Amino acid sequence: MAGIRSYNRRVLVTGGAGFLGSHLCERLLARGDEVVCVDNYFTGSRTNIAHLLGNPRFEAIRHDVTFPLYVEVDEIYNLACPASPVHYQHDPVQTTKTSVHGAINMLGLAKRLDARILQASTSEVYGDPAVHPQPEEYWGNVNPIGPRSCYDEGKRCAETLFFDYHRQHQLAIKVMRIFNTYGPRMHPNDGRVVSNFIMQALRGEPITVYGDGTQTRSFCYVDDLIDGMMRLMDSDPAITGPINIGNPGEFTMLELAERVIALTGSRSTVEHRPLPQDDPRQRRPDIGKAKTLLGWEPAVPLPEGLARTIDDFRRRFFS
Ligand SMILES: NC(=O)c1ccc[n+]([C@@H]2O[C@H](COP(=O)([O-])OP(=O)(O)OC[C@H]3O[C@@H](n4cnc5c(N)ncnc54)[C@H](O)[C@@H]3O)[C@@H](O)[C@H]2O)c1
Repeated sequence: MAGIRSYNRRVLVTGGAGFLGSHLCERLLARGDEVVCVDNYFTGSRTNIAHLLGNPRFEAIRHDVTFPLYVEVDEIYNLACPASPVHYQHDPVQTTKTSVHGAINMLGLAKRLDARILQASTSEVYGDPAVHPQPEEYWGNVNPIGPRSCYDEGKRCAETLFFDYHRQHQLAIKVMRIFNTYGPRMHPNDGRVVSNFIMQALRGEPITVYGDGTQTRSFCYVDDLIDGMMRLMDSDPAITGPINIGNPGEFTMLELAERVIALTGSRSTVEHRPLPQDDPRQRRPDIGKAKTLLGWEPAVPLPEGLARTIDDFRRRFFS
């Protein structure tokens, strides 16, 4: 029935041992679903899901989504893909394969099972945006041959595949464009700005800010993000997306560095480095659609989310 989803579903989460995936698995289990977590542990880890392994409704499978998968499920959340530049540029060909072959394999599985499928897409599909903030209608400004292209274009092609499966095979799809998300269980060496700054501050090392630090980003706390993701999956079938999920609060890199220094009580200072190639100047979601269609908006303010993340980093790496 349109818009109404029963609980106790059997749900596949690809990339389930990663940062976002492990939080999603946790939340699905908490509401009574059965969860099949699939991961090749490239950037994720078994530590992220260790606390779930004893749950009889949780199952972890080591598998690479670039190969076909045969499981029986009602819903698929497709999160498998390295998400940070250091990781996705490590093996760019595998990154594109993960997005494209992974999407083809998961969409094929969804078609066979008549399962609902959600794609974890990204704000990177907007590239270095000429429109600010970015609404879903904006087609983006993406370099097709640069070092970030394996990720950006892989994700764009995955979106194309999702919409073609929807048009051609009437598959129930949900495409979510995720903006920068942070929180407990982020990878400490992923080179993302929040984890970088926290690790540097806790080590008392200089905080490295690229360029002059006036470029802005928006940061969404992981609990808010997962809430938006589950609302999108559970929404009316007519809502396919793409839909932006992120926190529109905008901060410069310098502001973020100062907040991290203050919250950690660190004596670190700020050190400037050259701006990497294709680094976007501004990135901020327009979340009008998420508000009206899903009744969603972020609730956790940056200082609170940062404090929880710093606690987690301290516990994992400095206790
Ligand atoms: N965290 C963010 O800010 C953010 C922003 C935009 C989009 N996303 C998207 O959300 C998803 C999850 O991101 P994350 O931050 O949790 O990253 P992550 O690296 O922590 O998680 C990705 C997971 O996918 C797994 N994986 C990678 N390649 C695989 C393959 N071929 N087969 C099976 N598993 C594979 C990794 O081992 C890892 O556990 C990704 O698709 C990412 O592109 C994240």
